[in-house]
Amino acid sequence: MSCFSCLSSRRKDVSRVQIGNLSPSDSSSGIGGVNVAYAEVEKKKGETNGKNVKNSSGVAVNFGFMELAEATGGFEETNMIGEGGFGKVYKGFLSNGEVVAIKQLSHDGHQGFQEFLTEVLMLSLLHHPNLVKLIGSCTDGDQRLLVYEYMPMGSLEDHLFDLNRGEEPLSWSVRMKIAARSARGLEHLHCKADPPVIHRDLKSANILLDNEFNPKLSDFGLAKVGPDGDKSHVSTRVMGTYGYCAPEYAMSGKLTLKSDIYSFGVVLLELITGRRAIDESKRPGEQNLITWCRPFFSDQRKLIQIVDPLLRGNFPVRCLHQAVAITTMCLQEQPKVRPHISDIAVALEYLASHSSTSDIHRHGVRNPTPQPTSEKYRI
Ligand SMILES: Nc1ncnc2c1ncn2[C@@H]1O[C@H](COP(=O)(O)OP(=O)(O)OP(=O)(O)O)[C@@H](O)[C@H]1O
Ligand SMILES: [Mg+2]
Repeated sequence: MSCFSCLSSRRKDVSRVQIGNLSPSDSSSGIGGVNVAYAEVEKKKGETNGKNVKNSSGVAVNFGFMELAEATGGFEETNMIGEGGFGKVYKGFLSNGEVVAIKQLSHDGHQGFQEFLTEVLMLSLLHHPNLVKLIGSCTDGDQRLLVYEYMPMGSLEDHLFDLNRGEEPLSWSVRMKIAARSARGLEHLHCKADPPVIHRDLKSANILLDNEFNPKLSDFGLAKVGPDGDKSHVSTRVMGTYGYCAPEYAMSGKLTLKSDIYSFGVVLLELITGRRAIDESKRPGEQNLITWCRPFFSDQRKLIQIVDPLLRGNFPVRCLHQAVAITTMCLQEQPKVRPHISDIAVALEYLASHSSTSDIHRHGVRNPTPQPTSEKYRI
């Protein structure tokens, strides 16, 4: 379609990362082959001597529970930086001075343990500047913890929605940079892992940011290896986050790489609009972001009305049109016609490089001064 016509796809045929003994077939326990591959990872970890170091194979290290308790001041509430379905996340300081994020599995349910295994396995094998780094894990008694590099700016979600009073919104160019580099992270899963890996839970909460707003994809607990050989999809129980799930996957459980592309399209739309995929605090017609945006997609003159008002008109309209074109391609109902992640990455990099301040012209400002509602700004 139009937005790619000016760009040549620079898809590279690079050597692929072997994803252990994983079988892409689903199993009742969740992830086919995961335990076999995990045992391999554990074996490699056992071969490393010493703590807080990485072995030459890049496999994350084992931590003792006491070591992580010390790192977090006994899981002190003031060190808690977030909480998700898996459990609480703490900022921690290792004895070697390294700052880390420590995720502690809460004790309810078996699903969490399966996710823990998959997370360790995937992140032990997948390494890329736009994927969060797993430093180690802890399996001590019934404790299960994951230790990651610390991402000082938190998640993309934290910077897009419900900003605190006085907090600077992300500029258009930073949004495009985040989009382009996140696409490169996803490309690593789709194109360089062998077999390919489907993330299955792509969303703004799972894109973490460093001090320079470089994004890193996180939360691989639901990841699946993609269809093998001439199979078109993996059949699996529907998991993920409401609002981000591709329609065909939500309806039939047929999972493909294109399911991630749909979720990526939802994230792009959140970046453009500053609105959540699903926001129950909005009026009925505006709660589902895609439904709300659809009428604007078909009328280019109205397109600027969907842009995040916190940008105060500071975005290049040409880039907006192209960003929306990429987004709508990702969100197509038919998975087959959604674009390949490498093409998306090339297109977004082009937009990121044409979104610098000098390219920005001010446009109609819908809501120049955001009005605070209690402690937070609402869009
Ligand atoms: N490596 C990290 N560095 C810094 N902060 C982190 C890190 N990992 C997670 N966090 C913080 O912890 C919060 C919770 O993360 P978590 O992945 O547990 O839940 P979630 O992604 O918000 O929701 P879900 O349960 O759907 O996964 C994140 O929003 C982020 O602010
Ligand atoms: Mg997360």
